[in-house]
Amino acid sequence: MSIELKNASFSYPGGFLANENLTLTIAPGERVAIVGQNGAGKTTCVKMMNGLHKPCDGDVLIDGENTRDFTAAHIARTVGYVFQNPDDQIFNQSVRKEIEYMPRYFKLPDEEIRRRVDRAVALTGLEKYMKKNPFDIPYPIRKFVTIAAVLATEPKYVIFDEPTAGQDKWGTEILEHLMDELEKDGIAVVTITHDMEFVARNFKRVVAMAHKNIIADGTAGEIFGNDAVVEESRILKPQLTILAESLGLPGQILTCEDLVTALTGLN
Ligand SMILES: Nc1ncnc2c1ncn2[C@@H]1O[C@H](COP(=O)(O)OP(=O)(O)OP(=O)(O)O)[C@@H](O)[C@H]1O
Ligand SMILES: [Mg+2]
Repeated sequence: MSIELKNASFSYPGGFLANENLTLTIAPGERVAIVGQNGAGKTTCVKMMNGLHKPCDGDVLIDGENTRDFTAAHIARTVGYVFQNPDDQIFNQSVRKEIEYMPRYFKLPDEEIRRRVDRAVALTGLEKYMKKNPFDIPYPIRKFVTIAAVLATEPKYVIFDEPTAGQDKWGTEILEHLMDELEKDGIAVVTITHDMEFVARNFKRVVAMAHKNIIADGTAGEIFGNDAVVEESRILKPQLTILAESLGLPGQILTCEDLVTALTGLN
């Protein structure tokens, strides 16, 4: 059971090759960050994971089922994808309708729809926006509408495409809390982000992409500790990692806790 990309490639209509020979496995319950330069192919890669894009070469298997054999609507029950741009995802006139849409599409009983919507709304802090038109609320909150809509489908794997973009401290804390709650439920979370502090705080496994390819897949410490990977994928090392390197501290320092431990160990 897993999401498996096996030598998967994808070309956009017109022939532009955006992903070349990607091989990657996401296990149930795992938390993985995908990072890398603009245009590296991150969004294309995750759209192959949920069947919005079918590989032109190689295979993508979801719990053993080849995405070529299923519609994106079918796969969405197992793999939820929150679009990079919320305006590409939202199409209902109210926040409530948007969040209820998929559970209603699945023809779930009313009580189950209510349970799912209540949980998704509680996790995303949207209580006071339920009657609003999603297009009348600010971008970062609109992004939470799309997150809630995907959570309400209760998929086994959730993919967030740049959820940190434009988020303030409140939004970032909500994201971190909801990822922790999903992890408790055994739901895998794949997150594309350009915020390396967010990665350092929340992800043990990091996949780095550059030029249509996966160039590294390892622990956050391994990725940020590899200058060639950092350079090629054009990511910013976390500030504390830069500080620790400047001070010549040993070990992989990503977080405040790591730094305190390293400094305490010097005494
Ligand atoms: N619909 C499309 N048609 C043609 N080319 C596309 C299309 N969408 C993306 N591309 C190209 O494919 C490449 C990979 O794009 P992708 O959106 O996967 O990158 P990304 O890593 O998600 O970038 P970003 O960090 O800017 O979101 C880019 O060169 C992009 O211009
Ligand atoms: Mg993208």
